[in-house]
Amino acid sequence: MALGNIDLNPQLIQAVRDAVDVVAVASEHTSLRKAGKRHEGLCPLHKEKTPSFSVDPDKGLFYCFGCGAGGDAIRLYMLTSGEDFPAAIESLAMRYGIPLPSKDSRRQRGEERDLHGALQAADEFFRQQLSETAFPQRYLEERQIPQRQVERFGLGFAPDGWENLLKALSGSIPLADLEAAGLIGRSDRQGGKPYDRFRNRLIFPIRSPIGRLLGFGGRTLGDHKAKYINTSETEQFHKGRLLYGLHHAKKALRESRVAVLTEGYFDVLAVEACGFPGAVASMGTSLTPEQAKLLGRYCEEVVVAYDGDKAGEAAFQRALPTLLAEGLKVRRAQLGAGEDPDSLRLSLGPEAVKVSIEEGPDAVLTALDLLILPQAIRDPKIRSEAAGHIRKLLHPIPDTIVRSGYARLAAQRLGVPEESLWKRSSAAPERQTEPRESVTRQMEELLLERLLRQPASAPAANLLPAADVFFDNLCRRIYEVYYQTYSQLERAPTLEDVQRSLPPGGAELGRLSRIEHGGQETENPFGTRELIAKLSDRWQKQQRNELVARIREAEQRGDYELLKELIAETAMAKKVRPLSE
Ligand code: UTP
Ligand code: MN
Repeated sequence: MALGNIDLNPQLIQAVRDAVDVVAVASEHTSLRKAGKRHEGLCPLHKEKTPSFSVDPDKGLFYCFGCGAGGDAIRLYMLTSGEDFPAAIESLAMRYGIPLPSKDSRRQRGEERDLHGALQAADEFFRQQLSETAFPQRYLEERQIPQRQVERFGLGFAPDGWENLLKALSGSIPLADLEAAGLIGRSDRQGGKPYDRFRNRLIFPIRSPIGRLLGFGGRTLGDHKAKYINTSETEQFHKGRLLYGLHHAKKALRESRVAVLTEGYFDVLAVEACGFPGAVASMGTSLTPEQAKLLGRYCEEVVVAYDGDKAGEAAFQRALPTLLAEGLKVRRAQLGAGEDPDSLRLSLGPEAVKVSIEEGPDAVLTALDLLILPQAIRDPKIRSEAAGHIRKLLHPIPDTIVRSGYARLAAQRLGVPEESLWKRSSAAPERQTEPRESVTRQMEELLLERLLRQPASAPAANLLPAADVFFDNLCRRIYEVYYQTYSQLERAPTLEDVQRSLPPGGAELGRLSRIEHGGQETENPFGTRELIAKLSDRWQKQQRNELVARIREAEQRGDYELLKELIAETAMAKKVRPLSE
């Protein structure tokens, strides 16, 4: 969600890394208690009742034993703010007063534009225009939008005409910045003459979850055929990664844990006006997994208040698995045919909206009702089909207890044993592979833990295995850095040495933090050499299996040339150990 208008040079990143404090970032979202050398509290990244979030101020790392999130202060900031790495660096630099590379010097180099400056100047202009113009004010009055909401949501007005914004900002903002920010178009007919993109429209500023202005949506106040236009989709402005209203809803969501998800800008205003400050909109497009994840960060339950028409129903059906996959409880507001929250508020009043939201039924139970028709109980074929649909419906729910709760209910009503619902489901094999994966990962982590925490007992560099023995991507990348650092320093590196060379804000530091935090809770039964041997053996087995599979394939295809090569390779593989030298 960055605007990409700062120069992310290594000095800037290092300065942010040095300035930002993991305890300070964490304390903005949870209250921490000192526990030995660490601080503990409720995890700000998932919902929990007993603290499993731990911060190590010395190392500058955090880790949650509950949800597994971990990393450095920059990563914690990214996860709590929803900002990506460039935006996080920019925000943190501003917060700690670290000078950002000057815009002028960038401009001289003809590089990037100050989009944020342009957006903010336009925002001010639009709000000023609304406060001075009777016509859009009357429109808002007719739609019963009070002044309080105009201010809360920062509504504005883009006047009719081709050059209002252009002229107003001509002295202060370079044209190229306005253009890059999507505020200006170019006429094909008049030799590329610039013109205002938003004309005669009510303006909705769109912000990131932490309130950074990213773009605008504009509703026509005339009869223009595009009812809404939005800032064009760019690397910086992605509707699919944003939720309109989330910045305003955030505070309420932290307390109520219930969000109301609507389709449109006016619906957010309507729902808020009816007493639900936790309203957001997916802005008329299909709900993306990113948007669901964003919601999941702030609430536990979502009441979907999409339009009561065919399109709204279809959009809801698409959104349901996406929301369930985030572990959210989903209800559906019953607005009535053809109504959206805004129209219902105006036709039947706020009470009707309130009731429809508060009494919206559980979406999974509703779906089960539709799948378990009375005739299914008699007809085995329909019953089996229904079981298939039920499996598909419940599949995305990550919490086994919740999932099997619904399954038990469905099975009872369908008149089949609960296990039979899972027979062909993909949920079952998942549960089987889980422990195996975590065992291998655990071994890799145990080796890293030994190497990093006990550098004195680390083997000589030439006895270290190649990075290939690590199957887990994060573990392998940490090991690669370890390996490089080893040869640079000409001694076994410590955890801090490796930490310094891992990408700030990255997932590698999350894994490193887990290794660091895990080291004291669980025992490590294996020695360094033993772990290296285990991983090397595993690697060799895997290589052999792969060779065998390739040989079989070559045989089947009758590719004797390849077969010969592969067999020669087998002979080699017996001798090769995955040692670096
Ligand atoms: P709707 O067409 O349902 O409009 O689009 P609405 O929100 O009910 O608006 P009013 O009440 O008629 O003024 C729902 C949402 O889809 C996005 C907007 O976010 C809109 O609020 N949308 C719609 C667009 O981005 N572009 C469009 O052309 C239409
Ligand atoms: Mn509407």
